[in-house]
This record gives sequence, structure tokens and C-alpha cells, in this order.
Amino acid sequence: MNAPEFKSSFTPKQALAPTPQLYDELVGDGMEKLAKVTIAELPPFQDGVVVHDNGCGTGPGTAAIMASIAGSSKSISIKATDINDDALYTYLKNATLHKWPSDVSNMDASALTFPDETFTHSLANAVIFTGLKEDGIPAMKETYRTLKSSGAVAVNTWALTPSVGPVQEAAKATRPEGTPLPRQGLEKWSDVAFVRNVLEQAGFEKDKIIVVQKEVLVATAELNHFASMIWSFIGGTSAVGWLKSDEENWDRAIEVVKTELRNGEGFEELKGGRSKIKFVANIAVATK
Ligand SMILES: C[S@@+](CC[C@H](N)C(=O)[O-])C[C@H]1O[C@@H](n2cnc3c(N)ncnc32)[C@H](O)[C@@H]1O
Repeated sequence: MNAPEFKSSFTPKQALAPTPQLYDELVGDGMEKLAKVTIAELPPFQDGVVVHDNGCGTGPGTAAIMASIAGSSKSISIKATDINDDALYTYLKNATLHKWPSDVSNMDASALTFPDETFTHSLANAVIFTGLKEDGIPAMKETYRTLKSSGAVAVNTWALTPSVGPVQEAAKATRPEGTPLPRQGLEKWSDVAFVRNVLEQAGFEKDKIIVVQKEVLVATAELNHFASMIWSFIGGTSAVGWLKSDEENWDRAIEVVKTELRNGEGFEELKGGRSKIKFVANIAVATK
């Protein structure tokens, strides 16, 4: 779920396991907020729409879809897919609890088994930049194939990710010079032209792609715990994984993460040790 480039055989004793539960606690309502601003750019969900929640994770995209039609009598059908069984298990629990009209399956976004022209809408919420092969172009080709004519896909990336910089600074401060950084190479996804190009390479016409930027304000857990969660989740994901020295340097890394978060644009301390951090999303909508 944390998209490691390398599977470490060693994990520092302080590291929290990167489970779907930790992910949900880490992102709080951030993913659902991101999904909400993203869905707002899609054509409205009319009666009878068939929506793909691609890389659904534990279900924030579906929750946002359902919130957008709350109180209406529109019938909607959702197909939710992901390659992570643990995430799908939590999705299913959420689907049952909230009575979502969704079918769930384990399916690679780059090799969808749905027939051509299945969906009116497709959503990939915080998915395309998480290590999909060939920058997500095969996945977006599959999305193009499975969209109905005039159907639309919404994908998002981060233009500003205030949680990644602090983790990279902590890695620089506590690891030998030259050690590969976690999430290195993610910067390209902040570039709107890069996102557009992925969609164009997948078959969407240039003038049928719209990209907008939206702020997403996220309330974090208590700052110390939040810093421990993001260092645990992302700190060991570089091409070298965790280092033995990360265990003895753990507290120092957490302090660097906290300091860098505090220095971030839009950071605000809230009551009870929690904080608010500002993300900026690129939201691309492409119509077939
Ligand atoms: C950052 S999470 C976002 C999950 C969810 N969309 C949300 O809003 O929280 C990225 C998700 O993409 C999934 N994923 C990564 N590669 C995938 C692939 N090739 N096919 C389908 N899902 C994939 C991961 O398992 C993970 O659940």
C-alpha cells in the first residue's frame, strides 16, 4: 500500500506496519476530500451511471461518489478495483457498512477485464503516481477502452505535497550522503504538462483534457504521531529500503519531519496537538 521500491529484510523496531488501517489513520479525511474536489470536476452523476473506482483502496473515492448523490433517488453502480487484497478487504467492510452499490474485485489497472465501453465515469483517486508501470499510460489506455463514448475519467496528482518533503529532509539528515531518497522522482507528477501527456499517450484527445488545481486542507493526527506515521509509511520506501542505522536515528528523523512540517506553506497548529496542512492537487478530467 505504501508502494516500496525495494522490499527491506530489516525494519526498525519503532516503525509502524504500513497496513490499510495505518494508511486510513495517516490520511484522515484527506483522501475523501481529494476525491470530493476531483469528482466535482466530472460531469454530474445522472440516473443509471456506471462508475469505475480504479485503485479504490479502502474506499474514499466511493464514499465521495456516494456523498455527491446523497439525498437523491439516482441509481448508480460502482465497480471498485485494486491490486491490494488487504485494502479490498477493508473496502468490502466499508461497502457493507454504508450499503454502497459496488462490486469489488482484485484487478490490475493496466489489465482490466471489463468489456469495452463499460463505464460512464472513471475515477483514479491518488493512484496514477503510485508506481503504476510506464507512468500509468497502460492503465489510462485501459480506462480509455472501458469508457463509453462521451464518458469521462478524473485522475489527480499532487502539485504540492507537504508530507513528502519533510520525509526526504529527514532521510537527508539521518542517512549517509547519496542514499536514495524516498519518493524520489515523484516531482514530475506536479507538472500539469506531464499529467496531460500521460492522458494523451493513452488515447485521449488534447482538446478533451482539462486540468485544474485545487487546495485540499487536511487535519493531521497529533503532530508527533503524524510524523511517526509518515516516517514509518514512506521512510523505508526508497530503492535501499530501511537502513540498520534508522533504528538509532529514529527520534532524530521524527524531529526533522516535525520541524519541516511546521515550516511548510499553509501549516497551522490546531488545538490538542493536531495541525492543518495544505495540499494542492492537479485534477485532470479527460472525455472520450
Ligand atoms: C494512495 S492509494 C489511494 C487509494 C484510494 N483511491 C484512496 O482514495 O484512498 C493508491 C492505491 O492504488 C492501488 N494500486 C497501485 N497500483 C495499482 C495497480 N496497478 N492496479 C490497481 N490498483 C493499484 C494501491 O493498492 C492503493 O490502494
